[in-house]
Amino acid sequence: MSIQSCSEVGDKVNVDLIPFHCGLVEHPTVKNADGVSMPDHPRKTIGSWVSTIFEAVADGKVQLPLQGTWAGPIIRVSSNEVHINDIDTYNQIFKVATKFPKTAFYYSSPSTKHSLLDLRDFHAVHLRRSALQPYFSKQSVRKLEGLIQTKINMFLIRLSEGNVVNLSRGFRCLTCDVITTYSYEKCFEALSHPTFSPDWLIALEDLISTAQLTVSLPGLVIAMQWIFQNLIGRENAKNISPNVANAMEFEEHCRAAVLKQQERWNAGERDLVTIFGQLFCGNEKNGRKAATQDELAGDALLTVAAGMDTTGHTLTVATYNLVKYPEIQRELLKELMTVMPHPTSEVKEEVLDRLPFLQACLKESLRFSHGVSNPLARDVPQTGADILGYNLPPGTITMNSHYVYHTNPTIFPDPLRWNPERWLGPDEKVKEMENYFMPFSRGARICIGLNLAKAELLLTLARLIRRFEITYSKDFTDSHMEWVSMFVPVTKGMLTVTAKERIV
Ligand code: HEM
Repeated sequence: MSIQSCSEVGDKVNVDLIPFHCGLVEHPTVKNADGVSMPDHPRKTIGSWVSTIFEAVADGKVQLPLQGTWAGPIIRVSSNEVHINDIDTYNQIFKVATKFPKTAFYYSSPSTKHSLLDLRDFHAVHLRRSALQPYFSKQSVRKLEGLIQTKINMFLIRLSEGNVVNLSRGFRCLTCDVITTYSYEKCFEALSHPTFSPDWLIALEDLISTAQLTVSLPGLVIAMQWIFQNLIGRENAKNISPNVANAMEFEEHCRAAVLKQQERWNAGERDLVTIFGQLFCGNEKNGRKAATQDELAGDALLTVAAGMDTTGHTLTVATYNLVKYPEIQRELLKELMTVMPHPTSEVKEEVLDRLPFLQACLKESLRFSHGVSNPLARDVPQTGADILGYNLPPGTITMNSHYVYHTNPTIFPDPLRWNPERWLGPDEKVKEMENYFMPFSRGARICIGLNLAKAELLLTLARLIRRFEITYSKDFTDSHMEWVSMFVPVTKGMLTVTAKERIV
């Protein structure tokens, strides 16, 4: 089964795990002005500890009847949790001046505590983001384009060696080296690993499953982490769980790198490549204090975690599909040849920005790769909220799944087919699709790294396809690309390929 079909189950769409978190207090049935109760999901009645544990242990997926079988735009999935499939409501919740904060338990991974991800207070979010954002503007990313190109060169050289390459991991090594160098000049040298499999990457792959556990059983994960850090220690952890020890080492690596930079900054060095310059010092004008060491360490880990897997997975999805559909790859190659005369030509992002077919391939890959595949959780504010005719009490959790919007069959006909050409249709249609297209989310908490991600995606894809003929390895099958949602998508296997240099 391919990526496309693995998501179809009968006439239902297999949506990522919807956490049935601890709704111990039953909210009264929600009714609209006409006295009509909001529809309940059949599983709602067991929305409590029982289903939380069941879901976490089974690491399964909830079959949420949507599209086709679920007629309405809103449904209760547990006593204080609603799932929404309505673009106007999405835009209301995910606007710049939103009043809907992130749901605390959903984002409370112990590893990213104190980071931007963990912040809920809107003023605090605004201050932290304004200090980080200048480093991720289009101009800033353009200034460091040379750095991205250098890492891509290293990656392509590795591919030219002619061996079977694990691209799923190779792309992550590439994005890791870009983001660590970009963020704090301390490249993790993942691309130098002979099989693109450094210990910490394997450890992170293994531990990503705890991201889902964090959502379902936050207390347990926090307790486990505390025990490992404070009672067991890294050396002993190696004997109990090498992966936990490797992940702890990775975290410490990020922390040490950013604190070293802080030391240099405080000693007066200003020519660092860093995204933390503004956080190292406070801002008297807006009252922001200098970041604490824990905040710096949290953000140092967050940027790697947020920037590596998402971008790596999108590149994997793009390449997998370009090999699967050779006629589409040929079309792309034809376009690339107009600006890259030789297979090894370098090219600037501003040139690639003007190539419609490449842009279409990228959009379709972003639509298909679901950077964050779990629904995004936001709380109804203290004032309550009138949503789709229902007055929702404060604290109700609203869930919006990008997967659901990106696979809406009315907007994206034949939605589970990877088809870049859909983005080249009439302007009106493209405008409608763009309204339903939010791979980086929207509003106050939109992805901070989107310009960096787009640059990495365009440059890597263009240079890879222009230079190599790529073939799946002998033992690769489409089933390797089936995925489950572990907050981010996790494929069942790896994309393994061989790459042959093109002659012209
Ligand atoms: C294809 C690549 C990427 C995709 C699809 C993606 C997608 C997203 C999405 C959907 C969110 C919102 C999550 C939520 O609200 O729960 C987000 C947040 C975030 N992303 Fe990305 N991202 C990508 C690449 C990157 C890169 C390269 C960075 C590098 C720094 C990055 C850094 C962040 C950060 C720090 C946040 C948290 C922002 C906040 O909490 O205010 N992302 N991303």
